[in-house]
Amino acid sequence: MNTQICDPARHFAVRLPATPRGARRARLLAVERIAAWGLPTEGAALVVAELAANAVTHGRVPGRGFRVVLALGRGVLRIEVVDTRGDRSPGIRDADGCAETGRGLVLVAAIADRWGVDPGPAPCKAVWAELAVAGLADLRDLGFRDPAGADVNP
Ligand SMILES: Nc1ncnc2c1ncn2[C@@H]1O[C@H](COP(=O)(O)OP(=O)(O)OP(=O)(O)O)[C@@H](O)[C@H]1O
Ligand SMILES: [Mg+2]
Repeated sequence: MNTQICDPARHFAVRLPATPRGARRARLLAVERIAAWGLPTEGAALVVAELAANAVTHGRVPGRGFRVVLALGRGVLRIEVVDTRGDRSPGIRDADGCAETGRGLVLVAAIADRWGVDPGPAPCKAVWAELAVAGLADLRDLGFRDPAGADVNP
């Protein structure tokens, strides 16, 4: 793991292996950092978890890791997850109530104020989401539960 802190008050970046364990680590490290910035972590944790899970499944290239970048500024928390499959792009799938997958980006789009994909530098792409800091607190109002099954903001 290669951790880089440019300005600890506002910026955090970490490179992790593209494995399920790496994805879990991404969520834990992000939560730690966001909490250290004094922000609620629930919504951002879900976003990081979904984007990291995607990076290690759909964005994985054997032998290459992925990177998580957090930046806080002007009332916005920006989350970027960079993988090395620049030739494949994420997209929200058509709704299918029975499908057991295809929900990750729907969740990201519901939590984030904006999200998108930036190409490059080759062979990379960055999938990013921005959350207004003031809007992070009340996920329970949206009816979300965290992956462990507990209500968020209990
Ligand atoms: N980082 C990525 N690189 C390439 N393709 C991606 C990436 N993230 C998502 N995708 C594509 O977008 C689709 C939708 O992603 P989404 O996270 O919504 O669903 P999923 O990963 O298939 O299922 P779930 O997240 O519910 O387990 C994926 O099936 C995949 O085809
Ligand atoms: Mg997914």
